[in-house]
Amino acid sequence: MSDKKESSMWGGRFKEATDAFVAEFTSSIQFDQRLALQDIQGSLAHAEMLTKAKVLTQDELSQIQKGLGEIKEEVLSGHAEWSIELEDIHMNIEKRLTDKIGITGKKLHTGRSRNDQVATDIRLYVRDEIDEIATLITRLQKALAEQAEKHADVIMPGFTHLQTAQPVTFGHHLLAWYEMIERDFGRLQDCRTRLNQSPLGAAALAGTTYPIDRELTAKLLGFEKPTNNSLDSVSDRDFAIEFNAFASILMMHLSRFSEELILWTSAQFDFIDLPDRFCTGSSIMPQKKNPDVPELIRGKSGRVFGHLTSLLVLMKSQPLAYNKDNQEDKEPLFDCIDTIKNCLLAFADMMPAITPKAENMLAAAKKGFATATDLADYLVVKNIPFRDAHEIVGSSVVYAIEQQKDLSELSLDELRQFSDAIEQDVFEILTLEGSVQARDHLGGTAPKQVVFQAKKAQENLQKR
Ligand code: ARG
Repeated sequence: MSDKKESSMWGGRFKEATDAFVAEFTSSIQFDQRLALQDIQGSLAHAEMLTKAKVLTQDELSQIQKGLGEIKEEVLSGHAEWSIELEDIHMNIEKRLTDKIGITGKKLHTGRSRNDQVATDIRLYVRDEIDEIATLITRLQKALAEQAEKHADVIMPGFTHLQTAQPVTFGHHLLAWYEMIERDFGRLQDCRTRLNQSPLGAAALAGTTYPIDRELTAKLLGFEKPTNNSLDSVSDRDFAIEFNAFASILMMHLSRFSEELILWTSAQFDFIDLPDRFCTGSSIMPQKKNPDVPELIRGKSGRVFGHLTSLLVLMKSQPLAYNKDNQEDKEPLFDCIDTIKNCLLAFADMMPAITPKAENMLAAAKKGFATATDLADYLVVKNIPFRDAHEIVGSSVVYAIEQQKDLSELSLDELRQFSDAIEQDVFEILTLEGSVQARDHLGGTAPKQVVFQAKKAQENLQKR
């Protein structure tokens, strides 16, 4: 380590300048410049409050507002310049302000610390991103609900253990995805509610001796209220962890959807058509059309889960209050935000473009004795105990496998070998259409129920 640099903001306490490597190693401006607009927003509220508290004069406030306004323009137009020597976004902006307005710029930091400043900035930033993410989630849900309504009566095999279990409708399957995302939306809003408190005023850790008004800054920044404890305020990163937990569950869902899309586009399933624009080819195998977008989303779930672990480990051993460790919260959090936004955008675009191959789905549903349970239920109605009915159907299936036929293709005489309770009306329930229509209750797969749920979903989305 060598090449000493001029020490800056805390120069008074130091006998030698910060080592150049250390300055670079400890800086965060490379990534926290993303917080520039929120940092300005926080400073404007702080300055306004200091003026009401008579710590700053009205004239000083005007100068600060003008200076910060100019810096905001520089940020928005991409002309802001940041320096590593100034370590982070907070000191970069403060220095820029001081360069512009002189000594008044140095007064802005009265009664606050970078510790409550950064805690405020990240909350503001995550809150803004939450609102954008909520819009993307809503777009995806809308596409799911519309597709579900459109394909409410398209029959496909429903699976358990990835073995054909019972016929379901494609619309019903899509609404299962809708419900998963609906819970994600709820978790996101819960996270927003808990996050929406203002740590500003906690200063370094213990509060400040100036006559600050924390209610006012909270209000100016759109927070529900100020936080209750100054030590907790500067050291709490629960909201980042909670956000990443929400994001991880969301990515787990998107990864599951992706897995199904990948299976369904394979030649073996061939259940859906995914437009070419979401796929790529192979450089060597001319016939290939690879579902790259879903594959990549499935893969990206790993990095979001990883960020959750990073944040948990980051926090687990920190004594109160602020520690420099906390600077490491930003990169996982930012990457988590970028990743889920891209994945949601891709899904929201992909979902309306998917078309089911109804004939293939139907043919697949016919293969796996998907109506065997319906036959058992039929026998129960004819007064046969369910356990015995299960046995009878099991034998019928073994027979049908030998004959290489579906249950619905057996003759009445063939079926009656196993139970004389079986009559001509059995064929109504052995068809796939009859099977799905019979599950006509709240949450069931009957096309009527699917249309009902899909419409209800669309009405709910309208209210957002
Ligand atoms: N760059 C720092 C961070 O991101 C800002 C707070 C620094 N506070 C301090 N006392 N060193 O956490």
